[in-house]
Amino acid sequence: MADRYALTRRGLFRGIGSATVVAGCTKAPPGAKTTTPSTGAALVPGEIGPAPSRLSFELNGAAVNVDVEPRTTLLDALRIDLDTTGPKKVCDRGACSACTVLVDGVQRNSCMMLAHDVEGRKVTTVEGLAKDGHLTVLQKKFVEHDAQQCGFCTSGMLMSCVALLQRTAGRGSAVSAHEVNEAIKGNLCRCGTYPHVVAAVVAASKERA
Ligand code: FES
Ligand code: FES
Repeated sequence: MADRYALTRRGLFRGIGSATVVAGCTKAPPGAKTTTPSTGAALVPGEIGPAPSRLSFELNGAAVNVDVEPRTTLLDALRIDLDTTGPKKVCDRGACSACTVLVDGVQRNSCMMLAHDVEGRKVTTVEGLAKDGHLTVLQKKFVEHDAQQCGFCTSGMLMSCVALLQRTAGRGSAVSAHEVNEAIKGNLCRCGTYPHVVAAVVAASKERA
């Protein structure tokens, strides 16, 4: 009985494997030309990889050119290839927002983006906030309001709050506690700094307003 099940399961996996290969083979549209890189894998023109490919974008105001594999996340490219370790790798699956960066001014979980998706775009990390060694008003308010403890969530928190302040910059009034809570609802802080973060952001926005 056990052998019969083993054979059946093996057959099932064989079937799944075949179906996957067939599905992979049918990815290219009919008539599309393919190229054969040194790895021997067939590629559709315009696709990149699997070897590292050139990626160019703007990181904290500076042009960056780096070769990364197409499977590399933006978070890994920043931390490993570009030594930009402000964005933290905590869950690596979009659940904590410790890796938050701004892409063209919009907050994004960098662990959930492929690095090549920022080709030609502007990426801002926490390293890009202070200028010439001077903290921004928001960063100073974080310090004044004790809005960080272990600090692991702090860079992500800051970037989510920066995005909020940028979104509301033109209206000439302070943000509310509710708005801050909405802005950071994806940012997990195991140290429980939330009330301090809210106070810091409201204070920063009052200074702006
Ligand atoms: S590390 Fe990206 S969301 Fe947690
Ligand atoms: S300050 Fe420790 S996780 Fe937020």
